[in-house]
Amino acid sequence: MGGMRPVIIAGNWKMNGLPAEAGQLALAIAAATRYPEVTRILCPPFVSLAIVDAALAGSGVAVGAQDVHPEAAGAYTGGVSAAMLAGLATWAIVGHSERRRDQGETDALIGRKVVRCVEGGLRPILCVGEQLAEREGGRAEDAVREQLRGALSVVLAAGPFPTDLVVAYEPVWAIGTGRTARGADAAAMADAIRATAAELGAPVGGSELPVLYGGSVTSASVGEFLAEPSIDGALVGGASLKVDEMAGIVARAAVTAAARHASGTHPASTTGA
Ligand code: PGA
Repeated sequence: MGGMRPVIIAGNWKMNGLPAEAGQLALAIAAATRYPEVTRILCPPFVSLAIVDAALAGSGVAVGAQDVHPEAAGAYTGGVSAAMLAGLATWAIVGHSERRRDQGETDALIGRKVVRCVEGGLRPILCVGEQLAEREGGRAEDAVREQLRGALSVVLAAGPFPTDLVVAYEPVWAIGTGRTARGADAAAMADAIRATAAELGAPVGGSELPVLYGGSVTSASVGEFLAEPSIDGALVGGASLKVDEMAGIVARAAVTAAARHASGTHPASTTGA
């Protein structure tokens, strides 16, 4: 059986910063977050991947892309394929709610992106999350389960359950709004995500699937989520552009990583940090 789930902090810079500034910012974040027990990932815009990758060499901080094209190659103007990302990134965000909203990405399309990640050796961070009306209507869990099934059914038609998968639970109403989910609600959703993964054939009943929380995470709020044993870290947007914020977030994550390691409990246990 596998070991404990890692504690992961991924920064999604979105469409911010210029390539000329990206290396400096990445270096400063790496220097301020020297906790190797936390899996640290920075996801800059495509045009900054090379400079960020170079800046982070030897730092232990990994690089992720913010998206990947669902096709392997061809006449797709503006597209970036998984193969093109080899050597520049080891992770890729797929299905972010901003792309679902702005580019009309569907679960099936997102599933194809996950397939490309798997083929290309990129670890996918699959984003799911309900709209406010779904949360208020008591349909949040159903909405997220549907997103997962929609994407993963495509993935499972192409191969086995991807063991490298990470899921980020990001309630849409919490992204960029300064409003976060409650830790307990996010934990309940993480449990529902693992249960759905288990139904779809995830190994060990989904207990090894890392689930992150995302949505207005800051150094002040991250502790509420990390205190939940079901939650393995955070996907951080706005705060990931600030060195001090990332320092605080990763330092807090390191406390959780150490406590979970020391307790040595099964990932599905109920002891938290
Ligand atoms: P936010 O973004 O932290 O700025 O709310 C999170 C995300 O979209 O991943």
